[in-house]
Amino acid sequence: MRSLRAVSLHTPRATESAEFYSEVWGLTPVERGDGAAWLRGTGQEHHILELHEAERNALGKIVFSVGDRREVDTAARRLAAHGTRPLAGPGVLDQPGGGYGLRFADPEGRLVELSCEVEAVVPGDPEGRAAIPRKLAHVVLNTVDIDAACAFYTQVLGMRISDWSEHRMAFLRCNNDHHAIAFNQAEWTSLNHVAYEMTSIDHFMRGIGRLRHHDRLPLWGPGRHGPGNNTFSYFADPAGLVCEYTSEVDQVQEDTWLCRTWRRTPALSDLWGTAGPPSTDVRTRMAGIPDPGHRGTPA
Ligand SMILES: [Fe+2]
Repeated sequence: MRSLRAVSLHTPRATESAEFYSEVWGLTPVERGDGAAWLRGTGQEHHILELHEAERNALGKIVFSVGDRREVDTAARRLAAHGTRPLAGPGVLDQPGGGYGLRFADPEGRLVELSCEVEAVVPGDPEGRAAIPRKLAHVVLNTVDIDAACAFYTQVLGMRISDWSEHRMAFLRCNNDHHAIAFNQAEWTSLNHVAYEMTSIDHFMRGIGRLRHHDRLPLWGPGRHGPGNNTFSYFADPAGLVCEYTSEVDQVQEDTWLCRTWRRTPALSDLWGTAGPPSTDVRTRMAGIPDPGHRGTPA
């Protein structure tokens, strides 16, 4: 896997959420369908967020890019050896942006897509004047078994663990970014939050300012986390799902990086001391509702 490409969210408020992510959050719609929307950032990805109307909030899928068809097919064989059958592919993907890929459910039923040959787009505002997200930074996932989740994503999908936050959170990378996903030990499987990368701390702050202009204040932040050293400011979208602006995530040098375990102290989760501890409200939103996922159901 080369990078985190996109995430798809199911929500009963897909229309309102699409308006929020385009008018307030800064993404650009690239395609709309029946109760669905695809939105891009300023990077080259065809889209980074997909929204689908559904009865309840849920993770639709997480999409990772891989190098080429050979890597997709190799992943399919490795998954088969682990007893994980594809829900779709390997083959041509019939969806906006196209591509060649593979879909499967992870051990907790999360739908994962690996794709290559997806249409690239011309980067928007290459000089980066507008304070809008460039790409997805990371997705944090609540898990009922953090060790099993880490084992699958490292041993079967080839991700590496960058750091632990005690035995409660694990940060996993697939390139030099400190983490593309993180697992959070929780009572049930669900989406914790989705983070979008701003190209600089100036854009990060100006993004927070734009949300303030739209009467949306951070649920938590701004601040800077210990693990990953990235800035954070968390908000709620119209469906109550948590979205984050972040910037300046640690860049991992593979040959010198040492995986550490961070203690969960206020000083380490909020290095600047500006954010304070997360409120019960933000914790409740990050816990979300139990997500049954795709166990045994066709994609
Ligand atoms: Fe985050």
